[in-house]
Amino acid sequence: MTREELKAAATGMLDKAYCPYSHFPVGAALECADGTVYTGCNIENAAYPVGTCAERTAMGKAISEGRREDFVRIVVAGKSDGPCVPCGMCRQFMKEFAPKLEVICLNAKGEEQAFTMEELLPHGFDQSYL
Ligand code: THU
Repeated sequence: MTREELKAAATGMLDKAYCPYSHFPVGAALECADGTVYTGCNIENAAYPVGTCAERTAMGKAISEGRREDFVRIVVAGKSDGPCVPCGMCRQFMKEFAPKLEVICLNAKGEEQAFTMEELLPHGFDQSYL
């Protein structure tokens, strides 16, 4: 899948978002080394902290299908003015499985800003500390 196609896959998930509380839909598309793509959206809950972000939905789907550590890039699409960056919890979640992941963040206009996981979560906690 091309970068533009992956961006379209993430943007296409905005319609699937369940976000009656924040009214802020987010879509994500996660690509594996073999080209497989897992998509996700944010899923909110009346008990607010129970809600899940789009990135964790996408990577959770992949992990539950047995994928591990061959994640190459993820696109996160949000209707924000600036690029929709992952929250701290998602950064920690994604680092566990994909410390070298490219994270491509889109704003409402589809403009992108790309980051490495190291840029998003420097000095992150991992298994080496245990
Ligand atoms: N959200 C995501 O799904 N991903 C992000 O990168 C940032 C925030 C969701 C969580 C919540 O459902 C809504 O956006 C507002 O915070």
